Amino acid sequence: MFARVRRGSIIQLAAIGLVAAAIATAAALLVPWLPVAAGKEATRIHFVFWFTTAICIGVFSVVAAVLGYSVWKFRAGPDDESDGPPTHGHTQLEIVWTAVPAILVTAISIVSAVVLAQNGHAGSDPFVVKVTAAQFAWSFTYPNGKSAGSLTIPEGRATKLVITSNDVIHSFWVPELSQKQDAVPGQHNTIVVTPTRTGTFPVVCTELCGLGHAVMRSHVDILGTDKFAAWLKGTTAAGGGGTAAGGAPGLATYQANGCGACHTFKPAASNGKIGPDLDNLSADAAKANRGDLKAFIRESIVKPQAYLEPGYPDAMPHIFGGQIQGAKLDQLVSYLAQGGK
Ligand code: CUA
Repeated sequence: MFARVRRGSIIQLAAIGLVAAAIATAAALLVPWLPVAAGKEATRIHFVFWFTTAICIGVFSVVAAVLGYSVWKFRAGPDDESDGPPTHGHTQLEIVWTAVPAILVTAISIVSAVVLAQNGHAGSDPFVVKVTAAQFAWSFTYPNGKSAGSLTIPEGRATKLVITSNDVIHSFWVPELSQKQDAVPGQHNTIVVTPTRTGTFPVVCTELCGLGHAVMRSHVDILGTDKFAAWLKGTTAAGGGGTAAGGAPGLATYQANGCGACHTFKPAASNGKIGPDLDNLSADAAKANRGDLKAFIRESIVKPQAYLEPGYPDAMPHIFGGQIQGAKLDQLVSYLAQGGK
């Protein structure tokens, strides 16, 4: 079809195409669009992303070359008021520009379907963690009954997350693990993550779920096999960010349950604005006509809807009564009552 196009024109077309490809490739490679993958599933999803991006760069280069060349070569002169020559379709060209995109889109579909199937496969022996979302906190329950406000999973083994919600629709996402799943009341949706490196990464809610959506965050600690086994038995605290090494035991509970996301409390260096400032607990207890400060704090954690500080909505999750118990609850109450000691 290029029979009538001179050799020089093809070189010019190719030059424009190469410049366009270079610009698009630079934009793709020089900007860190994706986090560094921390799981097998994420690596596969990143492959689909780059596979699609490479096809897009190719299509963009061809379109930019033809468009740029046409604008440059076939532009009308300043005094040219004449009509262009009448043209009809070009069957050969139309077959090519229909068939090539159809093949490319089919290739993307096949690669995506294969990755989707692989990523949904948990293997014969996954570690199962129950994930419960609630306005505005995450709660993670392990097979041995252990429960925490942050996720801890082992490196190198498939973990199946069974995700549900206590109230509205939320969505579970760890960018480094790529897998994303809605948390829907009454439903148990699952995703599989198989960590390939240790570290601490954010857990983010990605479904607008109310006033505290932006602060509905936790973290995932990926531990080596031995460390994880020890953690699961309860002999060590969760590793990585979020827990206080050597601080007051109440502070560790405060941080593990993400209290600072919503509350300001100077001793814990937290500055959340969703809930009341916990530096004023004595004054608030007096305002609520609660004589015993510790009983007031305990009630506010276990049954937050019993008394709402004026000006604040019923935004505190009603899950902490089940999540923080025994010595941990005592330590947290004392920690808050004693102003961080
Ligand atoms: Cu939960 Cu947004």
